Amino acid sequence: LFSAPLLNGAFSFYLFFWAYHTTRTRRLHSQSARWRSWVQPLALLMKLDPLVSSLSLYDIANTPGVAADVSHINSPAQVEGYAGEEQLGKALEGSDVVIIPAGVPRKPGMTRDDLFNINAGIVKSLCTAIANYCPHALVNMISNPVNSTVPIAAEVFKKAGTYDEKKLFGVTTLDVVRAKTFYAAKANVNVPVIGGHAGVTILPLFSQATPKSNNLSDEEIKALTKRTQDGGTEVVEAKAGKGSATLSMAYAGAVFADACLMGLNGVPDIVECTFVQSSVRLGKNGADEVLGLGPLLKPELKASIEKGIQFANRS
Ligand code: LMR
Repeated sequence: LFSAPLLNGAFSFYLFFWAYHTTRTRRLHSQSARWRSWVQPLALLMKLDPLVSSLSLYDIANTPGVAADVSHINSPAQVEGYAGEEQLGKALEGSDVVIIPAGVPRKPGMTRDDLFNINAGIVKSLCTAIANYCPHALVNMISNPVNSTVPIAAEVFKKAGTYDEKKLFGVTTLDVVRAKTFYAAKANVNVPVIGGHAGVTILPLFSQATPKSNNLSDEEIKALTKRTQDGGTEVVEAKAGKGSATLSMAYAGAVFADACLMGLNGVPDIVECTFVQSSVRLGKNGADEVLGLGPLLKPELKASIEKGIQFANRS
């Protein structure tokens, strides 16, 4: 599958919905339904991406309906919906890119780290399946806390002997999208954001924004930085218990996935910010080059990474 799509410039794609380990109770059902409400816009955006030849949707339940719905859009991607653990392998096989938005969203007053206990186990089992069924795929990790779920994925892949640090990405694109919006709310603006994806570990570099602004005061840069770091919380609070960012997250997830696909297609100079390894140049092998930024690891980020590694190696 990998070489065939190269000929026509498109790639098979796997969009992973995973709401919870089990749907046994009503509570879990409703959490799963709420989570899916944001994954659907991502499925829509990926169906519209001309680089996607095959779109595979997976969740514990209800995926065939979403797949049937989105499949009626007249774009090239062939859509399949898979539901239930027994279909997981089939859903993953042949994928070039896997997006993982699995897990539960936070509520007002929660940090992303408060999701660890639920989401860590989900990510671990998904990554085990990826190692078995599509070990060479690029993995775009959206599930929070990204600062810990990426290290969990890395450990799972290391244990399986499939780890390639150039193919595992924590999606921090929403931080970049927010920084750009708060900076200028215009197209053709760029603001690099390095670090991780939680609070002070999000480091927007407004000093390196393009086009450069000569009249931003230190106070303004401080306020822009704080708003970018608190962007997710701003949405969580505005939604008042009904979840976190859905539409902007779907947009950001699609932007990053499209960048991966362009890289796989050999488009040169696709540069994106991403966690674990900050900016990378995306190419035919995933990340062609890691654009180093020096020793910037914040203690908060280091602690989240350690937490993920310990969790993954516990069993
Ligand atoms: C975001 O940045 O919006 C996401 O990580 C979701 C969240 O909980 O903030």
